[in-house]
Amino acid sequence: MKRKVLSALLSVAMIATMLVGCGNSASDAPAAETPAESEAPAEEAAPAEDAAEGESAAAPAGEGGLIGVAMPTKDLQRWNQDGSNMEAQLKEAGYEVDLQYAANDIQTQVSQIENMISNGCKLLVIASIDGDSLGTVLAQAKEAGVPVIAYDRLIMNSDAVSYYATFDNYMVGTVQGEYIRDALDLENAEGPFNIELITGDPGDNNARFFFGGAMDVLQPYIDSGKLVVKSGQVSFEECATANWATEAAQSRFDAIIASNYSDGTTLHAVLASNDSTALGVANSLAANYTGEYPVLTGQDCDIASVKNMIAGKQSMSVFKDTRDLATQVVKMVDAIMKGGEAPVNDTESYDNGTGVIPSYLCEPVFADVNNYKELLIDSGYYTEADLQ
Ligand code: BGC
Repeated sequence: MKRKVLSALLSVAMIATMLVGCGNSASDAPAAETPAESEAPAEEAAPAEDAAEGESAAAPAGEGGLIGVAMPTKDLQRWNQDGSNMEAQLKEAGYEVDLQYAANDIQTQVSQIENMISNGCKLLVIASIDGDSLGTVLAQAKEAGVPVIAYDRLIMNSDAVSYYATFDNYMVGTVQGEYIRDALDLENAEGPFNIELITGDPGDNNARFFFGGAMDVLQPYIDSGKLVVKSGQVSFEECATANWATEAAQSRFDAIIASNYSDGTTLHAVLASNDSTALGVANSLAANYTGEYPVLTGQDCDIASVKNMIAGKQSMSVFKDTRDLATQVVKMVDAIMKGGEAPVNDTESYDNGTGVIPSYLCEPVFADVNNYKELLIDSGYYTEADLQ
């Protein structure tokens, strides 16, 4: 991603979020809760009426029509919250909901979406596993006149995508980069400081925005020698983590520490694009590293990472209040279902290969040990007990 383009995107996105903001205040929205159903493997991705594991089986008939909500996986806490927030808020708005999780398996997600279309869903909200793998099934949606909202992750190369709703992904990256810059006082301190980088799944369009945003902040310090990446791994591809898996992040870091930091060399900072990768880094540090603890970033404010933050094992996490994203998406669904246009605040940043997709970008903020109580507990996102 070209730096100039990203900077332009940031300006547009920042102005847009400043002008419009995102969703309701957190306290207006229902509390997050984890749904009880398990993820359906591909062969069990059954039609909504007879799906034992589909949420809609138990849902009271909503007058507004049936909405399909496809989530990638239950493995990561955030998607459980996204799913349950979407379901609760759609039901409250009078819709019936077919909520499915796909166990991070692309074919499962395709089958679930096919079923949603054949079961008569009037609109689909999809958080894709792989942004490039839904072209064929979404062509069926288009054919059936079913609008599609890409949720959190952009769906690429499909002209069936009507809208995109997400947090400002580029800003997530700049917030992480700026946190490291300020924590190490890179403007004033002499350095050099050692840093390592880890990002997400190459099939997730967001990962490049996160990494690009952070690198726009950090690259000048790498270029000037104030930041040193001892592993030499600086490209997106070298720093990517398949499926955002904690285990993969951990084993890559085991190797990085063994080759570069096992002789007492200090690792000052780690840019991790999200909490599941930050957790892998923290596990690896706990097992292999004895030096001063590095500044470590993350994203999502997953419970395990907030606990690590409180324990001094992770410095920050970008907080994306999934209640706000759900509120915004429900407004979009409602507008489309009533024959209107969905509210958006960005019509420039997200081209999915078929053209720019009108988007609504919510604003992320960072949480750390100093502000997490206000952001996460006072807002009702977590209880004190969740974090013990
Ligand atoms: C989401 C992040 C999440 C990651 C892994 C990204 O698309 O935006 O919030 O941590 O996927 O699931």
